[in-house]
Amino acid sequence: MIGILGAGALGRLWAACLPAGRAGFIPRPAELPGANTRYRFRPFDGQETTVDVPWLGPEDALELILVTTKAGSTFEAIAGVIDRFARHTPVVLFQNGLGSQQAVVAQWPDRPILAASTTEGANRPEPDLLVHAGTGDTWIGPMTEPAQGLPGTTVNFLNTSGLTIHAEQDIVQRLWQKLIINAGINPYTALLDCPNGDILASSLYQGTINGLCHELSALMRASGQGEDAPDALRQRIETVAHNTAGNTSSMRADVLKGRTTEIDFINGYLTRLGKQLGINTPVNQMLTQRVQQLSSHSQEQTNGQSPFQDLHPHRR
Ligand SMILES: NC(=O)c1ccc[n+]([C@@H]2O[C@H](COP(=O)([O-])OP(=O)(O)OC[C@H]3O[C@@H](n4cnc5c(N)ncnc54)[C@H](OP(=O)(O)O)[C@@H]3O)[C@@H](O)[C@H]2O)c1
Repeated sequence: MIGILGAGALGRLWAACLPAGRAGFIPRPAELPGANTRYRFRPFDGQETTVDVPWLGPEDALELILVTTKAGSTFEAIAGVIDRFARHTPVVLFQNGLGSQQAVVAQWPDRPILAASTTEGANRPEPDLLVHAGTGDTWIGPMTEPAQGLPGTTVNFLNTSGLTIHAEQDIVQRLWQKLIINAGINPYTALLDCPNGDILASSLYQGTINGLCHELSALMRASGQGEDAPDALRQRIETVAHNTAGNTSSMRADVLKGRTTEIDFINGYLTRLGKQLGINTPVNQMLTQRVQQLSSHSQEQTNGQSPFQDLHPHRR
């Protein structure tokens, strides 16, 4: 049995794609396993179906745990349940950005912890409807020593989902590549309240992107993540913004819904890293503070709904 911690959009996508009876949701520590969760699943291609996912109890032995909480809830979510599971059970972290994975690894270095980077896209336009809005790839790689030999078997295990999954030995490098794109698009879309492509012509973007890319380049070099020049990073960010021009980023969607964003694990992570490494990061700091302010303001103002589409080009 595969346990899924975080019954949101991504967790429900995995539960819907894995064969029936292979996966169940892990309840919070204070919650007893309740009735099965039923929802409609609209696949990227094909007919809508109904999915019925059980909640797991202490008697359920898990072969694998997928953690699909938001980055800000991940440490607490794992801490609440991890002692229930055998020490050798692999745990795969699906969070965007960086920082949440490192916190988990620092606390449980002796557990087989892996991280995933995915370009799948899922959203819940209604509470009982899960839409697979974009197909993509998922890379899985080891974060701790006990996980070193596990990416291949984990991928084989999850291949029954029909999703495209690859083993990736250097998963941190892949998380960095996505972090760069997220850092250069998401905060602008949230601050400007616009789809990805519309940031490019804005004065906020035009006035700060070169500074941001200098910061990203210096942070990558100092972290051993490559020698990419600022211009090359800007080009990569703009290619993705063009290719996903009509999409709403997860950060803009969170602000519109009045939910906490993942800014602390994107530009906020880069700001904290800059302090540790002695690299000035004024643009990352400004974007982090402004999104934090926006997010706390919007939590007071709205409970509106918005689709989650993120950075994937293959969307409906
Ligand atoms: N959705 C995507 O397409 C996608 C794509 C790539 C990466 N990601 C990344 O995947 C992560 C999850 O994204 P998402 O869109 O699935 O978010 P989401 O829809 O907000 O789902 C997160 C789920 O975690 C639950 N949760 C929070 N604290 C918990 C706890 N202590 N124990 C158990 N469950 C808990 C939440 O429950 P409540 O709602 O009750 O709080 C919610 O159901 C994020 O880091 C995101 O960046 C998502």
